[in-house]
Amino acid sequence: MKKKVYIYKGFERFWHWSQAILVIFLAFTGFEVHGSYKFFGYENATVYHQIAAYSYIVLVIFTIFWHFTTGEWRQYIPTWKNFKAQINYYLFGIFKNAPHPTKKTVLTKLNPLQKLTYLGLKLLVIPVMATTGLLYMFYRYPQSHRIESINIDSLHTIALIHTIGAFLIIAFLIAHLYLITTGSTVTSNLKAMLTGYEDIESDEKEDNKVEEIKEEIN
Ligand code: HEM
Repeated sequence: MKKKVYIYKGFERFWHWSQAILVIFLAFTGFEVHGSYKFFGYENATVYHQIAAYSYIVLVIFTIFWHFTTGEWRQYIPTWKNFKAQINYYLFGIFKNAPHPTKKTVLTKLNPLQKLTYLGLKLLVIPVMATTGLLYMFYRYPQSHRIESINIDSLHTIALIHTIGAFLIIAFLIAHLYLITTGSTVTSNLKAMLTGYEDIESDEKEDNKVEEIKEEIN
């Protein structure tokens, strides 16, 4: 039996959507800085990119804090359970109306592929983008020569890593947009991230576990 479940909390939805807006804006201004097109003008694009970058870093700091204070960081612990089944589902099962191999619950919101991808973004891609971006900023901008003291030979490598990261993020965004539509209905994942609620198969064992945790917290 399906039950309406509160799956995404208020702050979680806030950081998801503000992150989406900031990252899309960073990609848009970043590729103008890169020289891919002209929209805001180079000078403006660099300023906007910098403002969005600082806003994003602040959001990331708050989000790290949220993950640890709520225990939600556990959602991202990678697992091999259902890993192959999940790949097979996206390659074949999905086209034959096969059931989802991972059942979504409050305690397991992410399937094994999502866990690994999001962990990779959080531990690798975002830190690399922020670090190379800040190095770029402090090395490149003429008003600041601070980074010279740690002897970075060339901006080239930093810019290259930052740009590769930007391409990875865009590849992720495209895959993410497709995968959003592969929930129990085409719009169910999107609705859940907007309202917080999703109709999911209820599981007595899982419900009891959630109640136990709630009692422990209170
Ligand atoms: C998270 C913190 C980030 C910081 C601190 C940062 C900072 C910077 C800085 C300082 C520049 C050089 C601008 C200039 O020449 O004046 C730059 C370039 C760029 N950024 Fe970011 N950025 C961040 C995130 C992102 C993200 C998330 C994306 C894309 C999804 C992105 C894409 C780009 C691109 C494509 C360039 C042009 C690189 C080149 O052609 O050399 N940035 N970034």
